Amino acid sequence: MCGIVGYIGYREAYPIVMKGLQRLEYRGYDSAGIALFDDKELKVSKTKGKVADLKEKIESEIDTSGTLGIGHTRWATHGVPNDVNSHPHLSNSGNLVIIHNGIIENYESLKKELTKRGYKFESDTDTEVLVNLIEDVIKEEDVKLGKAVQIALNQTVGAYAIAVFDKTKPNEIVVARLGSPLAIGVGKEEFFIASDASPFIEFTNNAIYLEDGEMAVVRRDKGVKVRKIKDDSLVDPYIQELQLNLEQIEKNNFEHFMLKEIYEQPSAIRDTYRGRLHAEEGIIRMAGVDDNLERFLNAKRILIVACGTSWHAGLVAEYIFEDLARIPVEVEYASEFRYRNPIINSDDVVIAISQSGETADTMAAIKLAKEKGAFVFGVCNVVGSSISRETNAGAYTHAGPEIGVASTKAFTTQITVLTLMALKLAKAKGSISNTDFHMHLQELETIPQKIEVALQENDHIKEVAFKYKDARNCLYLGRGFNFPVALEGALKLKEISYIHAEGYPAAEMKHGPIALIDEEMPVVVIATRKGHYEKVVSNIQEIKSRQGKIIGIVTEGDTSVRDLADYVIEVPDTIESLTPLLTTIPLQLLSYHIAVLLGKNVDQPRNLAKSVTVE
Ligand code: F6R
Repeated sequence: MCGIVGYIGYREAYPIVMKGLQRLEYRGYDSAGIALFDDKELKVSKTKGKVADLKEKIESEIDTSGTLGIGHTRWATHGVPNDVNSHPHLSNSGNLVIIHNGIIENYESLKKELTKRGYKFESDTDTEVLVNLIEDVIKEEDVKLGKAVQIALNQTVGAYAIAVFDKTKPNEIVVARLGSPLAIGVGKEEFFIASDASPFIEFTNNAIYLEDGEMAVVRRDKGVKVRKIKDDSLVDPYIQELQLNLEQIEKNNFEHFMLKEIYEQPSAIRDTYRGRLHAEEGIIRMAGVDDNLERFLNAKRILIVACGTSWHAGLVAEYIFEDLARIPVEVEYASEFRYRNPIINSDDVVIAISQSGETADTMAAIKLAKEKGAFVFGVCNVVGSSISRETNAGAYTHAGPEIGVASTKAFTTQITVLTLMALKLAKAKGSISNTDFHMHLQELETIPQKIEVALQENDHIKEVAFKYKDARNCLYLGRGFNFPVALEGALKLKEISYIHAEGYPAAEMKHGPIALIDEEMPVVVIATRKGHYEKVVSNIQEIKSRQGKIIGIVTEGDTSVRDLADYVIEVPDTIESLTPLLTTIPLQLLSYHIAVLLGKNVDQPRNLAKSVTVE
């Protein structure tokens, strides 16, 4: 939700900040802006629209020289997306320039107060209030920028990652974070600021990730000084060595990040289980689980909290944990959980799932569970993210950066981690036989290669997409382990093609949704040979007799569904609990191709942002 980027050093800031904005555009893309300073003049350019629109505007509008710069790509919270509401925002004197990701919840009362004191506001944003509050503190208290930022932030309620500089003292940028991520890239006499490390990866491998409640003064000549915002205490920052490489964040030869990420799933899943799954020895090693095994084994139940696609991975995990490890599982939307006074016992284990590791609702659910004494285990993709730090222990998915807004490889790698955990606990509890355990490990190891086979259906899936691209509605049905996959398939279609789609357990159809079925309605049915195959075939017959159009996701060599369906898409055979890792693939490709054929912006669907750091 909003990307921020900044540079201070000896190079030209503009190309670094612009490239950084292009990399961060997945975080929000309804408007963008840049401020540059070249020792004499402050130059600001901003616009509603994409970073590409900004680039065109800037290059015809301002001189782009200067070794200090900040930039912002926005996902609107306060104020509609337009040029005026775009960041950066200036203070009334025109000296201070700020970019902000997050929400200042008490901005209206602060604005009222500042208005009384003569401040004028051009935009509807909370950010313009914050920059004027900082200016007011400088004037009233006669303090430097860093101190003023600290005093001002202590008067705010909300979430933020900010970068602010004063054009009259252009040797420093002040940054701060609470609830929104902020990384400082540390080079030699140059520093980079960004919401994640992707903007500066080609310049430095060293980064400081600010913790919540920390701020830093980043000085061209003197380096980085980190403090706690609340009590002003100095913090010795930990400089982390980044694992990211440039190839991971470029599209390479793919038309879209989403397609690249769909195709990355075999290698992503191998990365997820590398070092953990030892099929030959019959061992699963997961430090986060090993170190807390008793906690897991004594848990009366597991509560899973997550949002969106991660919530769907949680639902798959519910089936897997209950089936293999025989531990009761409840899966909750983090946004509901946090506000409904849930019963949390100190012997509950809470698993929080989040690709970004920054989702505000999931974070709040974790804090609530911890307050009630539960042990919280995180399953995150982004290393060093807020959720991975807030949880008591965890396991990374190691999927690599996911840049397409629609989540793909994050989902399958989350399921992989959760499957490993369930198997490990099942073994420790004795709820799985040795034979079954070994069979699961061996089968899990073959999944990447089976996904490669499933991906070979791509051209056929494109034909199916062409056939149904003009549908106005679509139903997705599945049973058992594949019911959550049906939900995920429907979510993928709605979010990138804007076609209305719903997922249902196949047997629920006759309790309502069957009324929707006519010759216009495509129904995607996951009907792999494992599980309740015959029952799903009966459901397909019910759809068929009402003229619904059937797209069956079937096991290789299937004939029964083929006879009934309008189209079938095959996936390799596997054991039932692992089928979601295969059946998800054609559903991702189907949504992708439909969206492309409809001319939609697949990587940046309207109204969405990759990392939802506001509630
Ligand atoms: C859908 C999608 C979202 C996210 C959700 C949670 O494709 O990407 O539904 O899954 O916003 O995000 P994380 O996993 O980052 O907590």
